[in-house]
Amino acid sequence: MRRPLVAGNWKMHGTRHSIGELLSGLNAQQWPDQVDLLIAPPALYIQQCREALDGSPLKLAGQSCAYQAEPGALTGEVSPAQLRDAGCEYVLVGHSERRSLFGETDEVVCRKFAAALACGLRPILCVGETRQQRDAGDTAEVVGRQLQVILERFGVSGLAQGVVAYEPVWAIGTGLTASPEQAQEVHAMIRARLAVLDDEQAQCVQIVYGGSVKAENARALFGMPDIDGGLVGGASLNADEFGAIARAA
Ligand code: G3H
Repeated sequence: MRRPLVAGNWKMHGTRHSIGELLSGLNAQQWPDQVDLLIAPPALYIQQCREALDGSPLKLAGQSCAYQAEPGALTGEVSPAQLRDAGCEYVLVGHSERRSLFGETDEVVCRKFAAALACGLRPILCVGETRQQRDAGDTAEVVGRQLQVILERFGVSGLAQGVVAYEPVWAIGTGLTASPEQAQEVHAMIRARLAVLDDEQAQCVQIVYGGSVKAENARALFGMPDIDGGLVGGASLNADEFGAIARAA
């Protein structure tokens, strides 16, 4: 019923040259048919990726977008309309690096989610707790609050137009992956929270896991009932490994 989704977030990595090599490696992969596949390159290189991936099942995503759809005086920003125009179908919103390093609040994330939808992009809403919050037993409350602002404005059916990525902050880029059981527990909690509002739509929402996903742990994570795939950072910079992760979904 729910299609798996595997996304590669390249973050601020790559040059024209290294990205050219990565794209050649990606074009040599065998991609599974039944999985939604996407990459989020740095914005400058979206066009290069679009050209190299012509005919590939890999779709394009932005890593972030401005909080408004209309053109305007927002120096340094990329609008969701521009991402769409450049060939993107998805955009990440509320990645923990945006929240912690660039001060994005839940309200800003909600505006970005709205602007993305208005431009025909599927927003991938990232949520997740820090180590300290987990240790204090606050995971459900933190993740619930990050979801709530979107649910109040768009309901479960609006959220279902996008994707939820559960990314425990303590697992991002640290090599510390949440165990399949730890991740499943939070994914199930998210789905249960949505189901209280709209059970039918809740069963349709793709909820993917992010945080040190690798070829060696992907199958166990993706085998859990509420984990619908992954948002992959570091390991997506290696074409063979990203291919193996996609095939595990
Ligand atoms: O967007 C991706 C996540 O931040 C995960 O990154 O796989 O390098 O831990 P990572």
